[in-house]
Amino acid sequence: MPATNLAGPALGAVQERLAGLAGFSESDVLRNRLLRAAPLLSRLPLDRASIDHPDWAALLDAVTVQETRMFRASAQIAAFRGEVLPILAARGALSLVSAGCATGEEAWTLAILAAGTGVPWRVEGLDLCRPALEAAVSGRYRLGPPDALREVPQVDRSMLDIADGWFEPAENLRPHVAFRRANLLDACLPDGSADAILCRNVLIYMTEAGRLAVLRRLVAALRPGGALLLGPTDRPPRGIGLVSWSRDLIGIWRREVADE
Ligand SMILES: C[S@@+](CC[C@H](N)C(=O)[O-])C[C@H]1O[C@@H](n2cnc3c(N)ncnc32)[C@H](O)[C@@H]1O
Repeated sequence: MPATNLAGPALGAVQERLAGLAGFSESDVLRNRLLRAAPLLSRLPLDRASIDHPDWAALLDAVTVQETRMFRASAQIAAFRGEVLPILAARGALSLVSAGCATGEEAWTLAILAAGTGVPWRVEGLDLCRPALEAAVSGRYRLGPPDALREVPQVDRSMLDIADGWFEPAENLRPHVAFRRANLLDACLPDGSADAILCRNVLIYMTEAGRLAVLRRLVAALRPGGALLLGPTDRPPRGIGLVSWSRDLIGIWRREVADE
């Protein structure tokens, strides 16, 4: 009998718990990762699904998808920098979040953008996956191949220390950047605290209920007028408190202010 059939019933129960716990939707990617993590499944306590339980934490480490890079989707990043960030920075300080930061490149990208605004700033990266967060904190990355800096504008490379096949964010960025393990389905950020949140390439792996739960949390975490950057195919539902930043800016949303 093929291994997939052997693991079938248990797999279904685990997928159901993962949907409730972290919002993950069923997919071939998830199924294949679960099958590769079979030794973990055998000892998983189905009745104690929690991100803090060591066996569930290990499973989350094994099944999450960490693809990311500096200045990923650079057209959106350029639009954010040119048209959104100056408006946010006009308030005098910036609090920026990479929600689902994986190995940290998105948070470091935000750091480079924020450092150019001239106002005090901080960046926080949140993720469930512990090894990814360790890589984010170390902030030391291979140059490739493939070229890890392929989307980074030349002018911004001065904010990176590049040597011997590796790059790191410049030392002066580090005190402003923090990473934390958190579940985006939980209240992981204080209400009204963030000027901008990037949550890109995260919701696509989620059930509809998971997406909605995360979006509600992120909207609450934004201050009114703050910006939410999503992936190009993520469509927040109406009535959630978000409006398009402008017709030309794909995937950039603004938290409504009270009298809108
Ligand atoms: C594909 S990466 C995206 C990284 C980055 N945002 C980007 O666009 O380049 C998705 C990340 O979201 C994280 N993630 C997925 N569901 C999550 C949840 N419920 N809470 C926290 N992080 C989550 C995964 O662990 C993974 O590191």
